Amino acid sequence: EKGGYASFMLKEIAEQPKAVADTLLGRIDASGSLTLDELRIPPGVLREVDKVVIVACGTAFHAGLIAKYAIEHWTRIPCEVELASEFRYRDPILDPQTLVVAISQSGETMDTLMALRHAREQGSRVLAICNTNGSTIPRESDAVLYTHAGPEVAVASTKAFLTQLVACYLVALYLGQVRGTKWGDEIQDVIRDLSRISGAVEQVLHTMEPVRELARSLADQDTVLFLGRHVGYPVALEGALKLKELAYMHAEGFAAGELKHGPIALVEEGLPVVVVVPSPRGRSVIHDKIVSNIQEIRARGARTVVIAEEGDEAVVPYADHLVRIPVTPTLLQPLVAAVPLQVFACELATARGNEVDQPRNLAKSVTVE
Ligand code: F6R
Repeated sequence: EKGGYASFMLKEIAEQPKAVADTLLGRIDASGSLTLDELRIPPGVLREVDKVVIVACGTAFHAGLIAKYAIEHWTRIPCEVELASEFRYRDPILDPQTLVVAISQSGETMDTLMALRHAREQGSRVLAICNTNGSTIPRESDAVLYTHAGPEVAVASTKAFLTQLVACYLVALYLGQVRGTKWGDEIQDVIRDLSRISGAVEQVLHTMEPVRELARSLADQDTVLFLGRHVGYPVALEGALKLKELAYMHAEGFAAGELKHGPIALVEEGLPVVVVVPSPRGRSVIHDKIVSNIQEIRARGARTVVIAEEGDEAVVPYADHLVRIPVTPTLLQPLVAAVPLQVFACELATARGNEVDQPRNLAKSVTVE
């Protein structure tokens, strides 16, 4: 069943280009418009939406954090992202103009289910992004956009995460489309780039040997930190979560700009720090800032693992290890930047003798609150 791979996780990491392509299939037409007919929420209702609230747990929550950047940038609709387990206990402000998006691979996560029930009781519409046909979360939602990752067996989410991102981008672009957000060149470019993104994911997978080697060399470490900015920040959180759950190591993700507000005190000689670098094009200001962040931690002894776009030369002098990812539009970068972090965690966990498909204390779907 593992198709020649040593674990389901490795197989599922390798299946990501196909999972991404399958999730896009039939949803972008030849003219570059989106056709999401399965979203049974009428366009008239979507035009009235004045707030998007995303609820999810774990890896799906990280997909939601990334979606916020895309939704607000492309549609200008305010978007909040909340851990499903926190949501209903704080009396959130919800009304019929609020679109709640519940993201869940399994469709059975109790925290997420309770959050969406609460939202529907307040009269909000709920759109589920889900990987499991006919599961409870889509059944109880007003509409569902299925991710087509195929069954995910390994406990740690990989291909479902990438397809959740794709589905979030589709929802964001579709909201823009039905609301007539000014369709600038950027949006057209993004749709075109999204339709080609699975090739970029494939490309990353072919360059992972140095990442595996690096992971093996770090098997005796106690701590690994992850830094990112903009959409690279949730990617850093996801990289840290993967390492915790698989390698049972202390791993933390930070927004790189927060370093100086505390976390930099953790940096000491030899500490591995993985940095997800945004594209030097587009938002070049944050690129320059993260380059200085890398300099700062390196000056304090950190061993830097830098994940940067091809052609980004500014990071080279400060990278003890450089991982190249293909050039993508800024907001789509997580689709390629997350992959090396998955491979890294999987290999490091294996080097530590852990069972990657069944990490201790974890279950694939968490059906208790
Ligand atoms: C991490 C992981 C979990 C799940 C979380 C939500 O690798 O798998 O954090 O992402 O339990 O699960 P779903 O998406 O099924 O609601």
